[in-house]
Amino acid sequence: MGILNGKRGVIFGALDEQSIAWKVAEACVAEGAKITLTNAPVAMRFGEINKLAEKLDAEIIPADATSMDDLNNLFEKSMEILGGKLDFVLHSIGMSINVRKKREYTDLNHEWMQKSLDVSAISFHKVMQTLWKMDAMNDWGSIVALTYMAAQRTFPDYSEMAEAKALLESFARSFGYHFGTRNKVRVNTISQSPTMTTAGSGVKGFDGFFNYADKMSPLGNADAESCAAYCVSLFSDYTKMVTMQNLFHDGGFSNMGMNPAILED
Ligand SMILES: NC(=O)c1ccc[n+]([C@@H]2O[C@H](COP(=O)([O-])OP(=O)(O)OC[C@H]3O[C@@H](n4cnc5c(N)ncnc54)[C@H](O)[C@@H]3O)[C@@H](O)[C@H]2O)c1
Repeated sequence: MGILNGKRGVIFGALDEQSIAWKVAEACVAEGAKITLTNAPVAMRFGEINKLAEKLDAEIIPADATSMDDLNNLFEKSMEILGGKLDFVLHSIGMSINVRKKREYTDLNHEWMQKSLDVSAISFHKVMQTLWKMDAMNDWGSIVALTYMAAQRTFPDYSEMAEAKALLESFARSFGYHFGTRNKVRVNTISQSPTMTTAGSGVKGFDGFFNYADKMSPLGNADAESCAAYCVSLFSDYTKMVTMQNLFHDGGFSNMGMNPAILED
């Protein structure tokens, strides 16, 4: 439909074809946007992102989202390549060493926890602060980060990522105030269903968790493609007055109490 015609954006977090950011990048370009892709330098080693860049005719600018120098370089180069200020940015980043190493929540390594919070949440503040200081966002632009409902409710195996997501969502509200007031830029988080990706399947017992949510949700789990479509709508001019929200994109899961289908199982 071309609802992103003429818009410029930066997409963080496309690692492989399963990544939510991968689908978002494809959907944005299909809707007429021009984008740059970015990921941590270490993720470049997988080489998959090159395929996406080729397919979408987009440039890749490596950046560790916890490094202010890398972020400065990323947005400077993106504006140069895309030919102007940005209209949208997707933060699609998550990583926890404690989860990866299967540490119990009652026995977490706190140095690793700091790293998890830095990569998964504080990076969002760093991204927005860099955009703010560079005055890199066009008026009425849109910034979105991906989150999960463990920020509000307890999902024991999600471990410290629950705290990371709570922090991430709070940054959206707090920075949303500043960006809205100065630039009419909106900032939101999308709280996505469990999705089969590298980050998702790193969570202990992910399959059971995925199937449970799928059964509990009247519409079933939202997949990565529909998440991408939702992101596109938030980057478009059809959602100009939506800001500082945590938006559940989960087939109804978050408002369910009990689903008889689960009991029948
Ligand atoms: N998969 C799910 O079930 C699910 C559900 C809700 C929300 N989310 C969120 O969606 C987002 C994307 O995850 P995904 O499921 O597509 O998995 P993914 O593993 O494909 O994406 C995570 C990305 O984070 C990047 N990353 C890690 N450290 C980084 C750093 N220092 N700098 C820059 N990038 C870094 C990785 O390289 C990777 O591309 C994450 O925020 C995740 O928490 C995922």
